[in-house]
Amino acid sequence: MRCSAADDPVAYYLETVGCDRVTAEAVAAAAAAPAAAERDVATPPAAEQVAAASPAGMDIEAQWDALALQVAGCTACDLAAGRTRTVFGSGDRAADLLLIGEAPGHDEDQQGEPFVGRAGRLLNQMLAAIGLTRQQVLVINVIKCRPPRNRDPKPQEIAACRHFIDAQIAMVRPKVIGLLGRVASCAMLERDAPLSVLRHHWHEVRGIPAYVTYHPAFLLRSPQQKVEGWRDMLQIKARLAAAGGG
Ligand code: URA
Repeated sequence: MRCSAADDPVAYYLETVGCDRVTAEAVAAAAAAPAAAERDVATPPAAEQVAAASPAGMDIEAQWDALALQVAGCTACDLAAGRTRTVFGSGDRAADLLLIGEAPGHDEDQQGEPFVGRAGRLLNQMLAAIGLTRQQVLVINVIKCRPPRNRDPKPQEIAACRHFIDAQIAMVRPKVIGLLGRVASCAMLERDAPLSVLRHHWHEVRGIPAYVTYHPAFLLRSPQQKVEGWRDMLQIKARLAAAGGG
């Protein structure tokens, strides 16, 4: 009998992964050992960024709404001409966990929400397997507008959006950041390296611990890697717990 995500999220994820309990327990035991320490140089802590960015007297909710309005009206790069809607981000703006993906696709562009298609459903399962819902985390992308034909974002498009991403990080002040896939990881870490080099290490983004994992769209194409993705999610869960979040 198939189990449901509601009954037992871990068993449900493992079933979709095709991973048996013995392998799963070995993975979980290995993940209990902490990953390598940070290698990237810390940037100024998010709290300082908030203080510097906050207009006097404006509370965080108002700042958030003001930023969303700025994003909605942004014409800083050519992507503005082709978009239906900007995709600001969704979830809890006071979340302990911030997940950063690549770029809106067709469905996201239509709905103005990140990760709403098949990749989004897998992301929900990955979160459920560490005891979290989409509503409990904040999900954003490194760019706010859909690139034509879903091509990779160009460096100048990522650069044009970066101040929005940094402002969101500064306002949310998450305890942990999860970077989904190579494009998001290289953009946020300002490195050009394969995912195999970036995974398995803790990095820092604006002073916040950041962990690299696979993009859910990649896991849909390569389901045999889902166990590895789960291993990464366990690292994130352990770091969140250590920071008193979850
Ligand atoms: N949807 C998003 O919002 N971001 C991605 O990276 C992929 C799909």
